[in-house]
Amino acid sequence: DYQLQKHHTFGTKAIANYYFEFTETEDLEAFLATTTHWQNLPILILGEGSNLLFVNDFQGLIINPNIPGIKIAHEDRNNIWLEVGAGVVWDDLVEYAVFNWWGGIENLSLIPGKVGAAAVQNIGAYGMEIQNRIESVTGFDLESQTEYTLDIADCQYAYRDSIFKNQLKDRFIITSVSIKLDKFPEFILNYGDLKTEAEKLGAINLRTIRKAVIGIRESKLPDPKIHGNAGSFFKNPIVETSMAEQLLTTHPNMPHYPAPDSQTKLAAGWLIEQCGWKGFRRGDAGVHEKQALVLVNYGNATGKEIYDLSEEIKQSVQEKFGVDLEREVNVIG
Ligand code: EPU
Repeated sequence: DYQLQKHHTFGTKAIANYYFEFTETEDLEAFLATTTHWQNLPILILGEGSNLLFVNDFQGLIINPNIPGIKIAHEDRNNIWLEVGAGVVWDDLVEYAVFNWWGGIENLSLIPGKVGAAAVQNIGAYGMEIQNRIESVTGFDLESQTEYTLDIADCQYAYRDSIFKNQLKDRFIITSVSIKLDKFPEFILNYGDLKTEAEKLGAINLRTIRKAVIGIRESKLPDPKIHGNAGSFFKNPIVETSMAEQLLTTHPNMPHYPAPDSQTKLAAGWLIEQCGWKGFRRGDAGVHEKQALVLVNYGNATGKEIYDLSEEIKQSVQEKFGVDLEREVNVIG
């Protein structure tokens, strides 16, 4: 048995039967060749565990692709292509890019997790999404027992979604990601108060933008090292525009943004706050007091307590607004 408490950012107690961590694909292949009983076990691929909630123990095998390395694959006058190991801490990559004045991921500063998970989840913040920077994703497919590369078009990226969360879930172990950055970046500053915050720090450049993003995140989001959490617990719901317009007649201040296919994206945090949950706490399970989209483990909450709270939140948002919230966090068990 393997204790998981330190392997996921909610920090609830959970146990897995088996745990395998590797730093090179050859080690994974060797492990799979010498061990056969994994074939009948459920598999969970885990990086830093910053987007997971264990409701029960995990009766299966956890695989952690802890592959290091940031390599310059090639470059031209305007761009640089990096080949990044799945086990690289995401924010270390952002720091490295900004330090070298390469733009394209600075708005994604301080997002927890590793590069592999970032590519699964299509992380996004402050008007930027990693899918716009990914060229291809390489990994090992447990089903075909081969390593192959998917071009960006094959990754089926959408808002917080990809093929790795669907057809290839629990079977494709991302080993590296190819990321394209700009040597002469255009800044994306139109989200919220990012521009104002960056200007306070001096001339707008990659370093002031990174600093501003870090400042905003630190002021709103709980530090998982202090209070367990997995960032946004729900996705921002995408609804028919006619439905959003209907809701706006009774709630004119409701935040809403254009989404693909002429749909409308709503702010789950706002909906949850309107239902009175912001700052709510029962035992050690709660809703963050500065950002209602984030559920928090204040110490000894169980995964089940956090899950039950999320169910109640879902129900009340459904009752008040008729909107179905979908969990962003990967619920295990
Ligand atoms: N809002 C409230 N009350 C709240 C929270 C938000 O009224 O408790 C309102 C805000 O005032 C604002 C709107 O909702 O008008 C959006 O809030 P915010 O800018 O804080 O962003 P978000 O939509 O709640 C998303 C991402 C975050 C990302 C931010 C910034 C998702 C699920 N979440 O949150 O990502 O950092 O935008 O771009 O898309 C994460 O995925 O873990 C995450 C933190």
